[in-house]
Amino acid sequence: MITMNDVIREGHPTLRKKADALSFPLDSEMRKLAEDMLEFLINSQDPDMAEKYELRPGVGIAAPQVDVSKRLIAVHVPSQDEENPDPEFSSVLINPKIVSHSVQQTCLADGEGCLSVDREVPGYVPRHKRVTVDYYDLNGEKKKVRLRDFPAIVVQHEIDHLNGVMFYDRIDPDNPLALPDDIDVLGTVEE
Ligand code: CO
Repeated sequence: MITMNDVIREGHPTLRKKADALSFPLDSEMRKLAEDMLEFLINSQDPDMAEKYELRPGVGIAAPQVDVSKRLIAVHVPSQDEENPDPEFSSVLINPKIVSHSVQQTCLADGEGCLSVDREVPGYVPRHKRVTVDYYDLNGEKKKVRLRDFPAIVVQHEIDHLNGVMFYDRIDPDNPLALPDDIDVLGTVEE
């Protein structure tokens, strides 16, 4: 299983590389990695597993974060609705590509974090509010998904990792807490 010991941290050169596309059929090693990445996220959100294995809770992870420079991400966004046990979005996405997006931007009120960044980085990270993403599943089947708000932010954060981009690259260095015009802030802005 993947633990935090497998996750490389900022400063590691793999996090700044553009990752390579995968081809199908996937070899068994890559399929196992994809399954392990999704399992890591699910474990990390389980309080008992997270404590036992010292996992930081995560909603997304990209293969470069475990030092595999391939275009593979896993996302596990739990349902925001307490009565609905199904996750809001949970998937392995191979060779994901944003094929269209809204003009409207969004950002998280509390900024973003990253399993590869062991510090808090204050500042708003502008993202597209809605994205349409083409990708392949584990079996090489082409898929398309439309996402908005939090799941859309998570997928954009992970796709950035495939291009060597860290979330803080998108924070305005001169004014990290200035909100761009017309941005829709998700969550509550702390006073
Ligand atoms: Co990250």
